[in-house]
Amino acid sequence: MTTAGSHQGRPHGGDDIPANWTVAELVIKYPVLRETLERLGVDYCCNGKKPLAAAVADAGRDWTTVRNELQEALTAAADSAPPTDWNTAALGALVDHILQKHHAFTRTQLLRLDGLLDKVQVAHGARHGAVLQSLRSVFDDLNAELDAHLMKEEQILFPAIKSIDAFMTDRGERPAIHCGSVGHPIRQMEHEHDSAGQALAAMRRISGNYHLPADACQTYCALYDGLQALEADLHEHIHLENNILFPRSVALEEDMVQGQG
Ligand SMILES: [Fe+2]
Ligand SMILES: [Fe+2]
Repeated sequence: MTTAGSHQGRPHGGDDIPANWTVAELVIKYPVLRETLERLGVDYCCNGKKPLAAAVADAGRDWTTVRNELQEALTAAADSAPPTDWNTAALGALVDHILQKHHAFTRTQLLRLDGLLDKVQVAHGARHGAVLQSLRSVFDDLNAELDAHLMKEEQILFPAIKSIDAFMTDRGERPAIHCGSVGHPIRQMEHEHDSAGQALAAMRRISGNYHLPADACQTYCALYDGLQALEADLHEHIHLENNILFPRSVALEEDMVQGQG
């Protein structure tokens, strides 16, 4: 546990979280804390402009206790996620990172957002039906596309990459790549990434940059916040695949083929 006055283990070497920061300031600086705030029932969305101490009091909680929990969450995040250079890390480790962090998050978030969108459509359909229906249409297509996309990566492409990596590091037999070359499924995955990127941009456009209407309820806020979290995570996920995993896999496969003589 972090003690007052000690800055050890704090990301960015910050001081104790100040009680007069607004909730929005906190989650913008430390997005990782959204989960803790949500668990503690502190509204970080509709009432983001409130000072932290007031928002915590509104949730019926004690400021000092909550601040300690937030600081522990920050310390744990800093400790559990030492920066990894994915340009040099083992390819198998990068695949596992993508699966554990991004595929798991995408699935959980899509399911959650589907339910939130249902609730918001029922509650706000009368006044915001057109926007919500357009969002629903793009979201449903994205949801279906990602479901198939993640499955293809998990069942075809990633096992092929891991088997090449295992062979090239003397941990496995020479693999027979059933898709001919990893370049083929990679081109298809890149095409699907483009489509997902367009869907994310369309939802941002439809929602006016996720601008909440004046009568938005907490569920509406949670929906827009969640869609933005999905967008941010997918951007990072696609960057890791398009810019690092895929080129490194193609190069490693070429090394394997050349090594055959
Ligand atoms: Fe992926
Ligand atoms: Fe992908």
